[in-house]
Amino acid sequence: MKILELQILKKEVLKNASNANSLDMVKEIQINFLSKKGKIAEIMSEIKNVDAQDRALFGQTINSFKNELVKIIDSKLELLSQNEKIKTFDLTQPGQWNKIGSSHPITMITNEICSIFQKIGFTVAEGPNIETIWNNFDALNTPEDHPSRDKQDTFYLENGNLLRCHTSPVQIRYMKSNKPPIRIVSPGRCYRRDTPDSTHSANFHQIEGLYVDHNVTLSDLKGTISYFAKELLGKSVKTRFRPHFFPFTEPSFEVDFMHPTSGWIEVLGAGLVHPNVFNNINHDYEKVSGFAFGMGIERIAMILYNIKDIRDLYENDQRFLKQF
Ligand code: PHE
Repeated sequence: MKILELQILKKEVLKNASNANSLDMVKEIQINFLSKKGKIAEIMSEIKNVDAQDRALFGQTINSFKNELVKIIDSKLELLSQNEKIKTFDLTQPGQWNKIGSSHPITMITNEICSIFQKIGFTVAEGPNIETIWNNFDALNTPEDHPSRDKQDTFYLENGNLLRCHTSPVQIRYMKSNKPPIRIVSPGRCYRRDTPDSTHSANFHQIEGLYVDHNVTLSDLKGTISYFAKELLGKSVKTRFRPHFFPFTEPSFEVDFMHPTSGWIEVLGAGLVHPNVFNNINHDYEKVSGFAFGMGIERIAMILYNIKDIRDLYENDQRFLKQF
């Protein structure tokens, strides 16, 4: 082959490659010219037959021919195969789904209980996990020698505050900044020094309830709790009030629900707001009365979902959580 012929061939092939507009066309040029037995390899092997004075230029020309062709073909292959993908992309194909998980059982029960009370006019109010000793104990008529104030039972912080051991301090906070009538439920996290076992955890959740208005009586408390029990467990469920003691309510009760499979289960503490609690709020609470109640959310979740070990609720094991 003469140098001139090679130059013409190079020009033509590079032009064809640049103009190729289908994958098949590009691949054909690639095979014909760049494969082991392709045209360029063949021309290279014949370089020895080229006239000696042309040989250097011939060599340069065939090398640049090869390099330029490789460049053009590579970029064509990339471009055309991308176009191909876009053409064959099926818009009706379902997308890729991420696993989005589900609500935690404690969240589900909390939401359910709140919405049962919201239906009868309660609103949701929340308070902080770090409380003053006053809000957590004194304002709730809990004297300094009460056992729950012991260092063994409550987490005191170095700055004189504590991690609340119940949601009852929200009663104080809410009454201080709102006037009756008051109807709130207050879900949240609580802390007690407890050794973990299947029914105890140093960190757990409660829902507090508070109703303050003119002439609130024990029958209002009973009616409200009985409505709650029926909404939670079904119309036939019975409730039972047992006398008890809480510093911040008088009279006080523990309330049991009759559960179809578990029998009588203790669900909440309740009572009429103690006059000393009203006295500890600066507003004029003389003409009103009220009831309050508090319940443990884990306990209810364990009963409703038949969970045997409270610690299962905190371990974030997907095999456990997926069931709810
Ligand atoms: N705070 C009490 C407890 O943690 C429950 C309770 C709340 C009792 C409100 C009466 C009224 O056990």
